[in-house]
Amino acid sequence: MRQAIGLTAAGLLLAGCASAGAEADASRPSPAIERGQAIAARTCSRCHAAGPVGDSPRADAPPFRTVRLRNNPIAFQRRMAEIASGGDHYDMPPLKLGADDVSALSAYIESLGAPR
Ligand code: HEC
Repeated sequence: MRQAIGLTAAGLLLAGCASAGAEADASRPSPAIERGQAIAARTCSRCHAAGPVGDSPRADAPPFRTVRLRNNPIAFQRRMAEIASGGDHYDMPPLKLGADDVSALSAYIESLGAPR
């Protein structure tokens, strides 16, 4: 039940972002954001709360919506590139993320609700 509410909230938030941005298809987020969301769900949500609501499964991993760097796209992309190249990301296995994946994840995380 809680999850259903969360998903609805996610849908509303993403729909809001999309309609504020592109005219094309107001009901869908951009392809990069959708891709980033899928990668986050698959690769990061084991530790991080990867959506717009909820607590992280791993208490010391910040929910993505609270990661402050995401308000600074350049610093954030640089940090993500470090993580993707197997840099120190705690005890997670080295990630194989291409530049496209990093951009997609960045776009998604930057798109998550919250004030800028
Ligand atoms: C095995 C657990 C784990 C997984 C999987 C994981 N993380 Fe993390 N991540 C952490 C922890 C723990 C922290 C917080 C450490 C701290 O702040 O001291 C963190 C912090 C972060 C931060 C913010 C702090 C910083 O160093 O810039 C970002 C951004 C981040 N993770 C991105 C990701 C992304 C993107 C993925 C998926 C591709 C991911 N993480 C997968 C454990 C994980």
